[in-house]
Amino acid sequence: MSFDTTEHNRRRYCFDGVESVWLFGYGSLIYKVDFPFLEQRPASIEGWARRFWQGSHDHRGTLESPGRVVTLIESPATCCKGMAYRVSPDVFSHLDVREKNGYLRFVTPMIFTDGTREDGLVYIATEDNAAFLGPAEDAEIANQISNAQGPSGRNSDYLLKLATALRTLGDDDPHVFALESYLR
Ligand code: SIN
Repeated sequence: MSFDTTEHNRRRYCFDGVESVWLFGYGSLIYKVDFPFLEQRPASIEGWARRFWQGSHDHRGTLESPGRVVTLIESPATCCKGMAYRVSPDVFSHLDVREKNGYLRFVTPMIFTDGTREDGLVYIATEDNAAFLGPAEDAEIANQISNAQGPSGRNSDYLLKLATALRTLGDDDPHVFALESYLR
């Protein structure tokens, strides 16, 4: 798959006649909300783990020196907490560009904190995308993050803001918090 998934995502779903769609954010979409929304609710999805396994060439790194940002990896016993936003479908024309470095939209069941459920769309960078980096030792990942920066700023800010946002959500994500400790 090419680096730029914008066109691929645009062809993926037809929003004709749809007034609003739930979006599930688990990374920068939790703390950098640069899009309008109709409603916002903490939510979680089951069977997925957040990992700093995706390369970033366009936001938190460059082609020569990619940063690392989060994607979701299938993990049966894991629950990933995040933020759900109910948005107008036209918001995806902005989000598809923002998430273009390897992320595709998938439908996921979401569980709100009161136990109710809705389906939402989630951006996942799968292993077959050209920017995927995969696992590494925590120290190596933290080192790469501490050295990278791109048009959206320092890669370390992405990690630190995410860790703070997860704490606010009451999440305990050992992967993110271990990387945060290395960085600090
Ligand atoms: C997300 O936040 O849900 C997707 C990954 C990212 O933009 O950091």
